[in-house]
Amino acid sequence: MWLSSSSVGRKFIMAVTGACLVLFVTFHCLMNSVAIVWPAAYNSICEFLGANWYALIASAGLALLFIIHICYAVMLTVQNRAARGSVRYAIEHRPKSVEWSSKNMLVLGIVILAFLCVHMIQFWAKMQLQEIRGAHEAFPPAAGTIFLQEAFGLVWTPIVYIIGFIALWFHMNHGFWSMFQSVGWDSTAWIPRFKKIGCWWTTIVVALFIAQAIVFTVKAHQDFYKKDPALRAQYQAMIAPMFEKDFGPDAVQAISGMPFETFSMQMKQMADNMNRPEVAAYHANDPAFPSQVETVNTAVILIDYLTEGEEPAPQMMMPNM
Ligand code: HEM
Repeated sequence: MWLSSSSVGRKFIMAVTGACLVLFVTFHCLMNSVAIVWPAAYNSICEFLGANWYALIASAGLALLFIIHICYAVMLTVQNRAARGSVRYAIEHRPKSVEWSSKNMLVLGIVILAFLCVHMIQFWAKMQLQEIRGAHEAFPPAAGTIFLQEAFGLVWTPIVYIIGFIALWFHMNHGFWSMFQSVGWDSTAWIPRFKKIGCWWTTIVVALFIAQAIVFTVKAHQDFYKKDPALRAQYQAMIAPMFEKDFGPDAVQAISGMPFETFSMQMKQMADNMNRPEVAAYHANDPAFPSQVETVNTAVILIDYLTEGEEPAPQMMMPNM
């Protein structure tokens, strides 16, 4: 088949998949910017893009784009090196910056891939994958800001991300105009324009990513994503549906509308009570009890995480029920 057997066909595939990835990265960067100005809205977007059918189709399509782009990149590099033999770079009069990126596209791609592995473990595996698995973890999978807190609270995360962004800048800056050349739009008038547009586009996207990494790091170190009252209320509403199976539909509404302090106090009291051996013995023949205990304990893990290091509110220091 022409697309896979000829060098022009392979370059065409690289260009088309590259263009789709540029659009994804741009969309992703704009979406992340919402987390800077309105973190609760960002969580709503994460919820919308969770494990719904349309998001799953988009994620599968995106994964396919990455796989095709990477496989063809390796194929083209091997083919080019075989064709050139020992003389790897025949053209030596190109400008230094362009030359460096174009020579190192594979290496830059590998750095981006390494960044993506870390990134997927920090976010996707804890969000969409958790939802696909249907696991009831303490951190609700749609709570993107909790995972920002977790990731950017680590000292090494911004360093790894900035390295990834720099590699992305060089890779996208070269890839942008080169994809037009690959599809045959290579007139001497247009290539300099594509280079300029590509440079601006890439610089804006990468600058936004860097700004986000800085803001998320500063806020995570201030525990903002744990302490913000609007976010706490949102996390609480996100775990409320967990209670439906064990405590009935009324529990969802009651929990969603409760002030966070009251919710924390009630959950802790319930957990203390339900975890007492005599209470467990009393409910030994109740098949619903183990699941109820697990749900309440899960809520307490989230509450303890959010309130870590905080003095308990006076009304929370009440004797066990
Ligand atoms: C400050 C920088 C970034 C942050 C905070 C961030 C955050 C996120 C979050 C929250 C998700 C959602 C996971 C989910 O819902 O399953 C995600 C997914 C993803 N991110 Fe990023 N991201 C950043 C930069 C990047 C960059 C530079 C790339 C690409 C080079 C990238 C590629 C991806 C991919 C491929 C996914 C999976 C999308 C899917 O499941 O459909 N991210 N990211």
